Amino acid sequence: METIRIGFLGCGNIGCGVYRLLQTHGEAMRANEGVAFDIGAILVRDVAKKRSWAIPASLLTDRAEDVLDNPDIAIVMEFMGGEQPAASYMIRALKAGKSIVTANKMALATHWDEIVSAARESGAGLYYEASVCGAIPIIRAINDSLQANRVTSLMGIINGTTNYILSRMSSEGADYARVLADAQRLGLAEPDPTADVEGYDAAYKLSILSTLAFHRHVPVDCVYREGITGISAIDVACGKEFGLTLKLLAVAKEENGVIQARVHPTFVPDHHPLASVSDAFNAVYVNGDACGEMMFYGRGAGDMPTASALVSDLIKAAKAKRHELPAVHSAAERMADDWTCVHFVRMMAKDEPGVLSKVAGQFADEGVSIASMVQKGRCNSDGRVQLVFLTHRASERSIRSALARIDGDLASELHIIRVENE
Ligand code: HSE
Repeated sequence: METIRIGFLGCGNIGCGVYRLLQTHGEAMRANEGVAFDIGAILVRDVAKKRSWAIPASLLTDRAEDVLDNPDIAIVMEFMGGEQPAASYMIRALKAGKSIVTANKMALATHWDEIVSAARESGAGLYYEASVCGAIPIIRAINDSLQANRVTSLMGIINGTTNYILSRMSSEGADYARVLADAQRLGLAEPDPTADVEGYDAAYKLSILSTLAFHRHVPVDCVYREGITGISAIDVACGKEFGLTLKLLAVAKEENGVIQARVHPTFVPDHHPLASVSDAFNAVYVNGDACGEMMFYGRGAGDMPTASALVSDLIKAAKAKRHELPAVHSAAERMADDWTCVHFVRMMAKDEPGVLSKVAGQFADEGVSIASMVQKGRCNSDGRVQLVFLTHRASERSIRSALARIDGDLASELHIIRVENE
């Protein structure tokens, strides 16, 4: 059996997880998969740093060329994270004919064309199961298992940090800031949580997923993005009264050749399979015209779940007679700048006769039909009361136009959350 020499770019917790799996499962991989690996070099920033798994010092280097220009290394595993230098290193390795196995959604989503072109030109392999939803084999499912379908939509909880925060806000009625602080203390949110809580991480992942699902490139800057920082305990509580659970959803749909890709806080009915996905778990709910609905569920982050996907890709790369690239025919010519769904609208309205009918009139003038309405709590010291509307399906544009027509004197703090109920 040939032993394949590999190199690592980075060796934080995920790299240590990969090293650990190769050590502990190496014998089983030889017996079950007929592949054997040997690590040639590991690029790190600081060779003296203490790591979570004992890595022989002789493998560590701080010179990228020891990995990228080493002719004996056939497969490069990248887990440095971040956009650069990871993207340039991957392109350089691919151009040199080395296959890449990566967990890096940011580099891949922001440099998709260059990275895929480099792989296509050299014939080297490009594997990135770990870049979306950690251990969940969603890339493999879309590329290798659902080919006989036209995927019509996918909706995912693809960021564990925000799902943890929203789950606790829901179960405890807690405020965003308190739960975020707890998540940071527990290591479930970064000291700077922006990438997760503002939806950037989910947008990178959705760009990759929707590109593969619809076979047309969906650039990350075409993904509508809204995070969870504006969500309050009152939104979560009001949703509950309507039988709705709040999630940060990544939604991608193709309707009449137009693709919509969006990440935003979203209510789903309590009985929807995504509503029961709690804590830091991830799930992707896919709808295909032949397979119908299916849901992929599991751990979307963490060193060992991510290492599981990386080592699976490593084995796939090692066993491939010819490396396959996804069929992405062109850039999406048309991305939706509007979409239709049910909307949850919350506002502080003056508690006076006639206000409700004036607000309802603005919705009516934009063709938005109201399905239900509740008044929450009592009047505040400004004589205002919380009103919550649930609309029938309406376009985002018409909802925004209706809200723009509402005089601030009549109602303020207007706030919308989309509802996906299909
Ligand atoms: N921070 C991400 C999450 C994991 O919370 O899901 C890596 O994408």
